Amino acid sequence: MQTCNPGDLANRGHGSEMMAESEKPEQTTESCRPATMAAQALGWIDQSTRALIPPVHPATTFVRDPDNQYRAGYSYARPTNPTFVQPEALLNRLEGGAACLTFASGMAAATAVFLALRPGDHVVAPQVMYWGLRNWLKSYAAERGLVVDFVDASATDALAAAVQPGRTKLVWIESPANPTWAITDIAGAAEIAHAAGARLAVDSTVATPVLTRPIELGADIVMHSATKYLNGHSDVVAGALIAARHDELWERIVAIRAGNGAILGSFEAWLLLRGMRTLHLRVERCCRTAQAVAEHLVSHPLIIASLYPGLPSHPGHAVAARQMSGGFGGMLSIRIASGESAAIATAARVKVWKRATSLGGVESLIEHRASIEGPGSPAPPDLLRLSVGIEDAADLIGDLQQALAGGA
Ligand SMILES: Cc1ncc(COP(=O)(O)O)c(C=O)c1O
Repeated sequence: MQTCNPGDLANRGHGSEMMAESEKPEQTTESCRPATMAAQALGWIDQSTRALIPPVHPATTFVRDPDNQYRAGYSYARPTNPTFVQPEALLNRLEGGAACLTFASGMAAATAVFLALRPGDHVVAPQVMYWGLRNWLKSYAAERGLVVDFVDASATDALAAAVQPGRTKLVWIESPANPTWAITDIAGAAEIAHAAGARLAVDSTVATPVLTRPIELGADIVMHSATKYLNGHSDVVAGALIAARHDELWERIVAIRAGNGAILGSFEAWLLLRGMRTLHLRVERCCRTAQAVAEHLVSHPLIIASLYPGLPSHPGHAVAARQMSGGFGGMLSIRIASGESAAIATAARVKVWKRATSLGGVESLIEHRASIEGPGSPAPPDLLRLSVGIEDAADLIGDLQQALAGGA
């Protein structure tokens, strides 16, 4: 049983312990579970109007007190802003963290972690990961002096062999990982990272705090592209980091967000909080339907592989079953037996699924992954990535059946 604690709003990004009266949540339940916290956004009620839904604060600047203090805790909207304090507080609770920061995008959040490292620091990252971040690590991070080794993070032995005690400062993992949904044993990776004196950061975008809580498994930092499931409606680009503790690395990340200014806009923060109210419902539904779609396709004659961690045939199934609870996520990939052009043609025939990149929205998406990643992509050319939304499962399965049959 977890307790809703209004004091969580004090965990705002700039580290202030002061809290404006109007942003204190009113405690509506003594103790509540994560789905309740999310649905009620920690029980926040506006103190001056009794409004159930918080206002958007577009203000860029805040008035100083006559004695030269900023007692409300806000001075200027780049370091922090009352509208994004609320989604940060909620996400922090859902992940069981000590502090949370939202960012202008998932990439802004992820890169803030690497920018907080020092030139010469060694980083271990997965071979299978979000391509945009992999490209950034290979180009910008390398130019800035970070030494990044890419390993098969689903193999604990490979992670253990890659860390260099005293030199490795960060182990970055993603689980489930784009686009094969490879699973990394988070607790195992944390042990390896910590034994080498490094920190573990987890891109948990696909798992969401509904299915996995990496901090409980030993992670130091959790990252989300909040563009995906957290917001859930394909209408906000956002990112977030959650820290297991306030430490020197976190302070550097706080300073980087304030200094680089990659903050979430007020309206986007408000939409994100609204999206998170239905996170549990959406994720539960996506998991159920993704499992049904994967089971349906696993023995389809035109498909050589149905990649979904919820299938016993998936190489990461046993670890996923241990560290994910409530489902295996809404993402799966299929590999089309006749190759790349047949895969692209299959995607062209869908009517209900939308041919689009991204994931985690209420509408189901299909994409030929290698086409979006471009030349040099490690995604198999015959692979279609599916983001399962909240539509009726029979419509989604029927549409895939007719799209596959069209090429038979
Ligand atoms: C797993 C994962 N991490 C990070 C990102 C980057 O997030 P954003 O597009 O919000 O910058 C994405 C985007 O697709 C993603 O899928």
